[in-house]
Amino acid sequence: MTRDLLSRKAAQFTESVIREMTRLANLHGAVNLAQGMPDFPAPQEIKEIACRAIMSDVNQYAVTWGAPRFRNAIAEKTGRHLGLDIDPEREITVTCGSTEAMIASLLAVIDPGDEVIVFEPFYENYGPDAILSGAIPRYVTLQPPDWSFDPDRLAAAFNERTRAIIINTPNNPTGKVFSREELQRIAELCIRWDVIAVTDEIYEHILYDGSSHCAMATLDGMRDRTITINGLSKTYSVTGWRVGYAIASAALTAGIRKVHDFLTVGAAAPLQEAGAAALGLPDSYYRELASAYQQRRDTLLDGLQRAGLRCSVPRGAYYIMADISAVTALDDLEFTGHLVRDVGVAVVPGSSFFHRASDGSRYIRFCFCKRESTLLEAARRLQGILQPDPSQPR
Ligand SMILES: Cc1ncc(COP(=O)(O)O)c(C=O)c1O
Repeated sequence: MTRDLLSRKAAQFTESVIREMTRLANLHGAVNLAQGMPDFPAPQEIKEIACRAIMSDVNQYAVTWGAPRFRNAIAEKTGRHLGLDIDPEREITVTCGSTEAMIASLLAVIDPGDEVIVFEPFYENYGPDAILSGAIPRYVTLQPPDWSFDPDRLAAAFNERTRAIIINTPNNPTGKVFSREELQRIAELCIRWDVIAVTDEIYEHILYDGSSHCAMATLDGMRDRTITINGLSKTYSVTGWRVGYAIASAALTAGIRKVHDFLTVGAAAPLQEAGAAALGLPDSYYRELASAYQQRRDTLLDGLQRAGLRCSVPRGAYYIMADISAVTALDDLEFTGHLVRDVGVAVVPGSSFFHRASDGSRYIRFCFCKRESTLLEAARRLQGILQPDPSQPR
């Protein structure tokens, strides 16, 4: 009798396409506008604190659910920015990136067969997260050009088996920023069906054109049924540090902490020290972050539009979804293959963000968390991208 080598869970999803595009970018010497990681330096002051922490021997396990100084800083900053009163002793779990915060949270609240609502297009990780936690995903479509959802479709996705809904605002890949009214509509359904909202808010400070971030946990009746996920990666340009956190009621946090403990024990201790300093940066830091990103967004948008791509203008986060219909008859996979190999620009095929690949076949995603010079070079390479003849060997 032969057994399958891999579990049914592991066999159900593929390697990350986004991370694979980074490998291809390196192979072909392409400009990497695929994976959302900055190519500019992280803030000097927090790098120095990280170095000092290592040199002063903050090198052993921190408290499993997070170093006290870091948890206090999270509570203080969340209070300052969102007006939420968080108990750092009982309501915060520090994790290895928000990636771990999401899977630990789902594992803590999902039983096999529970349903989880996911807006689509979605950040690639949520699909495997649902599978790993045993959840059955139910998708609700965000419709271009403004990526709004149909309230009736959303309402129809809720039922007595629904355990959680995943919301990502500001949103990757669409750049949508959920409005207070939209979140209120979701909140009403969560309360009606006794559902937990798991909100990935890691782009909360990356906002454009005067848009503002509304945190689900601040809405009436949602404080104790929301798990707010966040991290250092995007706000402080340190994606490689792998430090994130989940904020939730004490009852939910007790479960998240148990799962987190046995998944990873804890996040890097010296980097939590630096994280405490990062969260204490003045408001001007966040204003400058958003305005630098708005400049980068405008540079890339201009380059993409000049190349003939139809783009959604993001209101937050640092990605642009582009419709390729006007420039090629190839599908997203063929076209991204052509771009990375022949044009020298790595992007992510739209199908990575949809559960039915065909729904994403007219889209590609660019990220713009890059130096101005990187974006201009990508734009230069993209000018005049013509449809290659698919019958020619490549
Ligand atoms: C929506 C979203 N959530 C989570 C992550 C991963 O964040 P972290 O580095 O904190 O694990 C990303 C990274 O691109 C993301 O776009």
